[in-house]
Amino acid sequence: MSQRLFPRKNRSLHEAMAVVGTLSGDLAVESQSAILHDQYNAEIQLVPFALMRSDAGLRAAYLNWLNDPDVVRPIGSPALLGSKGPEFVEQSFARFTRPDSPGFFVRYCPEQVFIGTAKLDAISAHCSSAWDGIMIGNRLYQGRGLAVAIYRILLAFGFTALGLNRVSGGCNEHNVPMVKTFHRLGYALEGRLRQADCIDGQFSDHLYFGILRDEFFAANEVRLGLKKYNGGDFPWND
Ligand SMILES: CC(C)(COP(=O)(O)OP(=O)(O)OC[C@H]1O[C@@H](n2cnc3c(N)ncnc32)[C@H](O)[C@@H]1OP(=O)(O)O)[C@@H](O)C(=O)NCCC(=O)NCCS
Repeated sequence: MSQRLFPRKNRSLHEAMAVVGTLSGDLAVESQSAILHDQYNAEIQLVPFALMRSDAGLRAAYLNWLNDPDVVRPIGSPALLGSKGPEFVEQSFARFTRPDSPGFFVRYCPEQVFIGTAKLDAISAHCSSAWDGIMIGNRLYQGRGLAVAIYRILLAFGFTALGLNRVSGGCNEHNVPMVKTFHRLGYALEGRLRQADCIDGQFSDHLYFGILRDEFFAANEVRLGLKKYNGGDFPWND
């Protein structure tokens, strides 16, 4: 199933949000069992954690990503350092299947492989806001410019189906690919916590970014699509 939120490429934001406004309740529920993609970019799909609970191969790959120091070190989170076992993956599935913390596995369609995760975390219904997150865990797929494509889908979902008004993000000052990704998507740099991170024994600053719904749609061409998935082969992006 493919649901078009933006049937015409040049639909104005006002029109688009009117369409989304009438669909948002259904879409938020439906998205738990649907694969998200951008109809302008066939490379990436976001598959909800909720759909992948029983995939042992993916759980093993996820654990490998989480245990790869070169993947987690630049994130600068003490919680991600050290060896992790299957219980960490179990906790992640519990967390990222909650309505206020939808998580997705990132699927690279041309090679039909999962390459990482993305999430909208700590959703506040009161403030219509959330925190973002991304981890391209398979390092073969880092440095290929995929983060922007992944975030376009994630944010289009957040700003339409979930009705968010703001998404916050943050990263270490030395995480150049992430800083560039935030800027490329239209995030504003909003804050710097000096020497808040400690990576390999060295203090460095943590940067905070934010993007509002109108800013996102002004800076990005994206047409969110949802495809129902009931198991079996993954749908191809057309
Ligand atoms: C950070 C991350 C999401 C970036 O995604 P990506 O798809 O690999 O990034 P891109 O390929 O789009 O690279 C972005 C830019 O950074 C540049 N870049 C990459 N590594 C760099 C480095 N070490 N020094 C300088 N620039 C670098 C790229 O050349 C590119 O710039 P350009 O488009 O102007 O050439 C991804 O690498 C990742 O998941 N890393 C591990 C986990 C992580 O850090 N998550 C974010 C936590 S906040």
